[in-house]
Amino acid sequence: MGIELTQVDTIIDKYGADQRALISLLLDVQDQFYYLPQDALERVAEKLGVPDIQVYQAARFYKAFSLKPRGKHLVTVCLGTACHVRGGARIVEQIGRLLHILPGETTEDRLFTLQMVNCLGCCALGPVMVVDGTYYGNMVASKIDRVFKKYQALETGVRDTVQEAANE
Ligand code: FES
Repeated sequence: MGIELTQVDTIIDKYGADQRALISLLLDVQDQFYYLPQDALERVAEKLGVPDIQVYQAARFYKAFSLKPRGKHLVTVCLGTACHVRGGARIVEQIGRLLHILPGETTEDRLFTLQMVNCLGCCALGPVMVVDGTYYGNMVASKIDRVFKKYQALETGVRDTVQEAANE
């Protein structure tokens, strides 16, 4: 899927095409597309006047960046020992049933990406699920639907607002 390079240009211009702002600039690009598309990285390199490899190295070095398409909301489920014995795998299975994705995958509507981790450092709350930095502890499969509905409703609300504005 192609991307709007004008959106990338706007971000580059915001930083005055300054090479020293590379990381901030890449963070903004990721906020825009939820990952770092190859076209965007090449555009950044071209406009900043640096080799492509330099931009790719920065993108690969920081864990916060993703080079693979990612959904708007990042869902992380802990499968560390403490969470696993408390039913972490059932959480992953239930997410799979609801969103039709496996770990590492993104929903077709690009709303959610599912990833696994080994420990989030809050084992007493296990099993733990995190959505965009919000922690949901003591998760049970029956609660998951409600959590996702909240994010989906938020999205519908945003779309309705945009639609209403377009109709005015
Ligand atoms: S094992 Fe899940 S938070 Fe530590």
